[in-house]
Amino acid sequence: MVKNRILITCAKGIAPFLKEELLSLGFPVLSETIAGIATEGTIDDTLRLNLLLRTGHRVLFLLEEFTAQDADALYRALSEIAWEEYIAEDGYVCVTSSVESPSIRDSRYVNVRCKDAIVDRIKENRGRRPDSGPNQDRVVVNVYWRDDCCSLYLDTSGESLSRRGYRKIPMTAPMQETLAAAVIRASRWDGSGHFINPMCGSGTLAIEAALAGLNKASGLLRDNYGFMHLKGFKESLWNDLRAQAKSQVKKALHCRIIATDIRRKAVEAARKNAAAAGVEHLIEFAACDYSETTVPGGGGIVMVNPEYGERMGKIKELESVYRGIGDYFKQKCRGYTGYLFTGNLDLAKKVGLRAQRRIAFFNGGIECRLLEYELYEGSRKKKSLV
Ligand SMILES: C[S@@+](CC[C@H](N)C(=O)[O-])C[C@H]1O[C@@H](n2cnc3c(N)ncnc32)[C@H](O)[C@@H]1O
Repeated sequence: MVKNRILITCAKGIAPFLKEELLSLGFPVLSETIAGIATEGTIDDTLRLNLLLRTGHRVLFLLEEFTAQDADALYRALSEIAWEEYIAEDGYVCVTSSVESPSIRDSRYVNVRCKDAIVDRIKENRGRRPDSGPNQDRVVVNVYWRDDCCSLYLDTSGESLSRRGYRKIPMTAPMQETLAAAVIRASRWDGSGHFINPMCGSGTLAIEAALAGLNKASGLLRDNYGFMHLKGFKESLWNDLRAQAKSQVKKALHCRIIATDIRRKAVEAARKNAAAAGVEHLIEFAACDYSETTVPGGGGIVMVNPEYGERMGKIKELESVYRGIGDYFKQKCRGYTGYLFTGNLDLAKKVGLRAQRRIAFFNGGIECRLLEYELYEGSRKKKSLV
């Protein structure tokens, strides 16, 4: 079976964690950019990647690379590809693109020309044109065009992998699922200590922690991917991969996951989302102020993602919240590692603890940091205080 380049896209800042995931699955890393990692494999490998990756957005399988000076050259190059072998004449195709070429002012024009080349070719060979449009829930073809170099990919994910399908109720300023998975990876939490998540909002961090702790593949939650709509989709291979992933899910967690929020509505939403992800029974939910969140003995991590004034709340009002988080960490979370995820470093300073690690992420275009605080127990605690 032919091995080709596979490009896995991700949100800015997540590539180092995606790289770790790829290496642990046995895939080579050919190159790395700020928003993606290139590896190689067969089209069958893309099924496994879609099923198992937690931090990637899209798994793109390279079909062809060629040079094209303008949109007519692109049309001609695409007409040479045997699309009838990939897309059924009664199917549906969507073209997406990323274009930086002097001859192109609007990438939507590229999408239309590519779509025309694909459906015209299929009509010529099969007598019928497939449908096309903007929906990414069936076959998706991706064009990456820089100057005169063009790479053409099958987007085997279709919809972004961040759409796990469990977030039925998003609440305000929810974290993207893939970002939450990367933040948990960055914390090195491995399920051996407790996972405490005050200010849980829609529950994304707690749900992703439960999935990771159980070793439950996030792809098991979704039943639609781009590759399923390609001709020759190997349903039996997909069923085998799913069965194998299911057999690797742990029966239980040996720690507690506690998620709380001051808003009863957020807790209800988080509970419903957790139920949709099949992990509701593993998370202890409560509606309370963050400072009242139970912190059991035994250690682990406590992770908070408070508002940071960009999208809601006023920065001034939030200062006392951040100060309070520092007090909560110092007084109630000894023996734990504390994590603060925020997009406002001035507010983070109000926590009043010295961070021992600072990891950069982006959330909806806002540069954020995950700050790590060692909250020493007993006599070592003074070391962590500023
Ligand atoms: C940025 S959102 C968290 C988003 C969450 N990570 C998610 O993915 O949905 C911050 C949350 O903190 C909660 N919150 C604000 N003040 C609080 C307080 N004093 N105690 C507990 N929760 C609070 C809000 O209700 C909101 O749900």
